[in-house]
Amino acid sequence: MAFQRRIFSGIQPSGNLHLGNYLGAVRNWVKLQNEFECIFCMVDMHAITVWQDPADLVRSTRELASAMIASGIDPERNVLFNQSQNPDHTTLAWIFNCVARMGWMNRMTQFKEKAGKDRENVSLGLFAYPALMAADILAYKATHVPVGEDQKQHLELARDIAQKFNHDYGGEFFPLTEPQIFGTATRVMSLRDGQKKMSKSDLSDQSRINLTDTSDAIADKIKRAKTDTQALPETTEGLEGRPEAQNLMGIYAALTDKPLDHVVADFAGKGFADFKRALTEAAVAHMGPITAEMRRLMADPGYVDDILRKGGERARALSAPVLREVYDTVGFLRP
Ligand code: TRP
Repeated sequence: MAFQRRIFSGIQPSGNLHLGNYLGAVRNWVKLQNEFECIFCMVDMHAITVWQDPADLVRSTRELASAMIASGIDPERNVLFNQSQNPDHTTLAWIFNCVARMGWMNRMTQFKEKAGKDRENVSLGLFAYPALMAADILAYKATHVPVGEDQKQHLELARDIAQKFNHDYGGEFFPLTEPQIFGTATRVMSLRDGQKKMSKSDLSDQSRINLTDTSDAIADKIKRAKTDTQALPETTEGLEGRPEAQNLMGIYAALTDKPLDHVVADFAGKGFADFKRALTEAAVAHMGPITAEMRRLMADPGYVDDILRKGGERARALSAPVLREVYDTVGFLRP
């Protein structure tokens, strides 16, 4: 049986969003929505597998939603909501807890990394995390999931769960979901150190461009961004060993949607001053409207909450028939 193409994307709500989050993730989803029906889910239930301050969690959820909408994700054309609005995720996750095997879960490298030596003391939810992720996807019978490399193993587990469920209950209930790895995701590094990832936890605010920065702040941060003393190279190979040049030119290429080798050719032999002027112009032109709209949305949480509530309703309407089928299949009387 063929499943209709449907994209599900899960995103941990996190605050203090910056250019790295934007160019590495959000912008790719904006492109994706032009091609496919997309479900964008902010996974607040996954977030609490480790402690979250409640006020921070709700703020982060609204901030991420604001960033996505401000960046151009259309909440009418897509389904945009936070996970806890649809209890079908947890119902299905419980069933998947009973399908997945301890041995499978024990192999999850993210759990091993996050738990570290403290395995006895982490939450049960952290261990079951990948079964909830499988439920996120399969509650909508999503066929494609855009993920980074770090989530591939979890997606393979979702396929194993789908396969075992289909096998145990004798039918083609769930699709074997395909990962969609973005070729275009940009790794954005710190403006103070081209070898460190741009991060919300960096102590220096100069190291990152926040999605709430004004155009003046953006210009100032680029002006003070670290460089080296050489002129810009003639070819992309010349960027090797020059992490700051590589980072800034990569950001410029992403913001202007140009291939990196064209950007390098355009600035070959020029100094950083010329290039930074162009970068500032591109960053302000591209990010200015987004950051302004994001600040506007964050000042109006009622409006954002309303969008998420409507998204939650639409999500429930999409998962309801799947859950009915699952109830019948497993042998649960429907409510
Ligand atoms: N685990 C994913 C991450 O940390 C987030 C996530 C939760 C997710 N559920 C998902 C991603 C379903 C894709 C599909 O990035």
